[in-house]
Amino acid sequence: MILVTGGAGFIGANFVLDWLALSDEPVVNLDKLTYAGNRENLASLDADARHVFVQGDIGDGELVAGLLARHQPRVVVNFAAESHVDRSIHGPEAFIMTNVVGSFRLLEAVRVYWAGLPSDTRDAFRFLHVSTDEVYGSLAPAAPAFTESNRYEPNSPYSASKAASDHLVRAYHHTYGLPVVTTNCSNNYGPYHFPEKFIPLLIVNALAGKRLPVYGDGLQVRDWLYVGDHCAAIRRAIETGRPGETYNVGGRSEKPNIDVVRTVCHLLDEWQPRRDGRSYLEQIEYVKDRPGHDRRYAIDASKLERELGWWPAETFESGIRKTIRWYLDHADWVSRVQSGAYRDWVHTNYAARAA
Ligand code: NAD
Ligand code: TYD
Repeated sequence: MILVTGGAGFIGANFVLDWLALSDEPVVNLDKLTYAGNRENLASLDADARHVFVQGDIGDGELVAGLLARHQPRVVVNFAAESHVDRSIHGPEAFIMTNVVGSFRLLEAVRVYWAGLPSDTRDAFRFLHVSTDEVYGSLAPAAPAFTESNRYEPNSPYSASKAASDHLVRAYHHTYGLPVVTTNCSNNYGPYHFPEKFIPLLIVNALAGKRLPVYGDGLQVRDWLYVGDHCAAIRRAIETGRPGETYNVGGRSEKPNIDVVRTVCHLLDEWQPRRDGRSYLEQIEYVKDRPGHDRRYAIDASKLERELGWWPAETFESGIRKTIRWYLDHADWVSRVQSGAYRDWVHTNYAARAA
């Protein structure tokens, strides 16, 4: 059995669904159900005895220790985090509490559990920590993509808190020998992505006739990774990643933001044309930039490709089609996640960003 944290969020839910589609190994899923966690993402597992859902905080050491003792997992996968850069600018404290203090308490409970395991299970145990490329900071336009040896230069409260957790994970390996593997991935996209993030926000706003807010000049570059490819990389890293190592995961799909917006508009023009026959491109609005906005992220995933034989199956062109199709087919999910709290956030983030 494996213990997954944050498995009701975007990537965690995709991971749990894929895991149980591919194997019968049960999953204990510990999630606090913040605004970003949604039980409905896992509704297809409601009657599935292989999935045990527990609502709780990774920072609750007693709870985590009890779950570890009861379920005896061979692997812990840590997805739980506050994950949105713009929210970290408006309110950094939650990021410190979960990403730093929570990760520390989780590591501490796992260390005690792991130290008490019989030696063969102890050697086979893995703590897989899911991190981000944002810890490496921002790249100049022609600079080579991030490798695992790039210096950590986090620029936002979000990336600083993730960097801190990565350092703790590293220290638990170096000092105590805990068999950890860290993955640093680029921007994910795909089904169940909460519509505060760029790609789902574009799709949802376009269909609702709202503006498509592009920060600054729209020429910031992200390296887009389809979430199913990311989940496959994590499975590889669990099974064959070397303890103490970090692996970059990227989609080989660097795109300026404005190109992403245009692609989404063109596909929607084709699949769900506006009633007035005009293009969704007309909804684009350039708005005030994010403070400290990182200009470019790009991942060199050659270590993962070479050592673990992983390669992204989706191109951006195939992945974005799957993603848009999913949002068109799941209008109910979209309307249910747009709660009052979601609308409050949209107001907080966008009201002061008029063009
Ligand atoms: P998300 O915000 O969609 O989901 C996070 C989940 O963690 C939610 O279900 C939430 O309820 C849960 N959670 C938050 N605080 C918790 C706590 N204290 N205890 C237990 N559960 C808690 O995030 P995501 O996009 O799925 O990201 C998952 C992980 O991947 C994060 O660690 C994030 O930093 C990392 N990551 C994400 C991306 C991306 O593009 N989405 C890119 C790089 C790295
Ligand atoms: P986001 O999905 O928030 O991911 P991250 O900041 O972690 O990369 O944003 C992706 C890119 O899109 C980033 O450069 C910021 C930009 N962006 C916009 O231009 N408009 C928006 O409304 C949002 C949410 C993001």
